[in-house]
This record gives sequence, structure tokens and C-alpha cells, in this order.
Amino acid sequence: MTTYAVTGASGKLGRLVLDELLQQTDAANIVALARDPSTLQEYDQRGVQVRQADYDDPDSLKAALRGVDRLLLISGNAVGERERQHGNVINAAKEAGVSYIAYTSILKGDRSRLALAPEHVATEKLLAGSGLNYDLLRNGWYSENYTGGLAQALESGKIFGAVGQGKLSTASRRDLAAGAAAALLKGEGGRTYELAGDSGWTMDEFAAEVSRQAGKPIAYVDQSEAEYARVLEGAGLPPPVAAMLASTSALSGHGELYDDSRNLSTLSGRPTTPISETIAAALKG
Ligand SMILES: NC(=O)c1ccc[n+]([C@@H]2O[C@H](COP(=O)([O-])OP(=O)(O)OC[C@H]3O[C@@H](n4cnc5c(N)ncnc54)[C@H](OP(=O)(O)O)[C@@H]3O)[C@@H](O)[C@H]2O)c1
Repeated sequence: MTTYAVTGASGKLGRLVLDELLQQTDAANIVALARDPSTLQEYDQRGVQVRQADYDDPDSLKAALRGVDRLLLISGNAVGERERQHGNVINAAKEAGVSYIAYTSILKGDRSRLALAPEHVATEKLLAGSGLNYDLLRNGWYSENYTGGLAQALESGKIFGAVGQGKLSTASRRDLAAGAAAALLKGEGGRTYELAGDSGWTMDEFAAEVSRQAGKPIAYVDQSEAEYARVLEGAGLPPPVAAMLASTSALSGHGELYDDSRNLSTLSGRPTTPISETIAAALKG
């Protein structure tokens, strides 16, 4: 019997990975790691082993990984703390005798100019130096990052960004969860997967599709990086976050979030979700 563990299991991606695993292996083989196990009661009731583990607490990680064969390390969300946190997980996995790790990195890894890339690259290096067998799951952006703000777009008739005419190949969280589950179940190690949607779209195309489905005019308003940062600040984001998102938007216009390898649908064994479907799901609410 192989035991499969998932960190960050209480998060949006983690829960979808658990759902995928439950379709493909016995619940008793699955270990879900969460800071607060009470958040995963529904999975506990389905027979998943829910264990407490905090990226900041090496002892909790060592205890939680006891008996685990294969591990999916879902990157944490504490930007600036993650190299150390992920290092704690990797050390604990080594100590526990984990035989395989899949890590959710960032699309293009060391070639990415995005501000969020260096912590992922640092984690990739920790894995490379660990002696563990691992695969890198370089996740592109979730389609839901773009459909999350549709209520506001429907009200104003405008979608702002600094992407220009660049193409984005996003995938839904469920698509990326399917890829992660596939790697956890059968990844052999030594692979770097660039994981993105099967097809790309521009912000103009995105706005046109929202407009078509919503039945009202909605336009993409392209801005400079600085203008877009001001819009985001005006919407209440702290200035450093607004600057980071505006920079990501501008860089994504130059291919940072585009990939046509189709690694994701190959890994998961099914086509990725078209952006029109993610838009439809968001409009349904
Ligand atoms: N590709 C993209 O578009 C994209 C977008 C956003 C984020 N991400 C990255 O992908 C990851 C998964 O995405 P998501 O949508 O599932 O994010 P999410 O819903 O924010 O989930 C983050 C998960 O990390 C856990 N976590 C945070 N700090 C932890 C700690 N100290 N110890 C243990 N667990 C900790 C959270 O646990 P709690 O439930 O206890 O808070 C949660 O389970 C994110 O954490 C981030 O690294 C990718």
C-alpha cells in the first residue's frame, strides 16, 4: 500500500487535489496535511487521514509525514517566508523517508521574470540539493484569477489590465489539481512540467466572451503598468501588492504566462477547461 500526502490540503487547490485522489485511490491511502485539521472534517469523515502540520513548525511536519511514501508539496501563500517554509517540508520529508515529492512551482521557473518566481526557484534548488526524487509542477496562472473580479466588470462594463495583446494560457484550478494528483500518483521523478491551458487567449478575447455570455457590452481597457497599479490601489489593494500585480500583468503581455507545451493535458489525461467554461461558472455564481 502506498501512502500519498498533500500539504496545503485545506486550500482551494489542495481540496481539489483531494477530490481527484479520492476518485483514483482508497481514502485510507491519502494523508491530508493542514494547519488546522478541523477545516478538513468532511475529508476526515470520508476516511482520509487528516494530520496537523504547519510549514513553520518542523516537528509538526516530521510527525505528519511519518509513514508517507509520496508527497505533494503545495507552495504556501506567505510570500517572503516560503523558501524557509518549503525547506522545512523538504527536510522533514527526507527525515521521514518520503520516496517522491511533486512541488507546485511557477510557470517557466528560473526563466520567469515575475516577482513571485524567486521563492519558487529557491525551492526548486532546495529540492535539487536534497537528494530526493522529485518532479516540478510549474503551474501557470489559474483562470479563476481573471474570473474572480467579474462582478465589478459587469457593473462598470470595463476590465482593466496591462497585458496589451499578449496571450495568456491559463488553466482552471481543477485542471491543475488533476495534473498534481496524476504526478503524485504516478510521477517517476526527474521531470519539469510546464503546466498551462491547452489554448491561449488575449484580454480582448476574454472581455468579448464575458460580454457575449453576460449579454452586455464589456471592454478590455489596456493601461500602462503604472496606471493599472493606480487602479488596483484605488480598488483598495496595498501599494506593494498593487505594484506586484501590475508588474505581473505587464510581464504577462510578453509571454510570462503563456505556454503551448500541453504538458498539463498530457499529464492529467484530459483536455484543460476552456476559459469560456470558467467564465460561465463564475457568471453562474
Ligand atoms: N497559479 C496561480 O494562479 C496561483 C494563484 C495564487 C496562489 N498560488 C500558489 O498556489 C498555492 C495553492 O493555491 P490555492 O489557490 O490553493 O491557495 P490557497 O487557497 O490560499 O491555499 C494555500 C494553502 O497553503 C496553506 N498554508 C499557508 N501557510 C501555511 C503554513 N504555515 N503551514 C501549512 N499550510 C500553510 C493554507 O493553509 P490554511 O488553510 O491553514 O491557511 C492553504 O491550505 C498557493 O499557496 C500559492 O503558493 C498560485
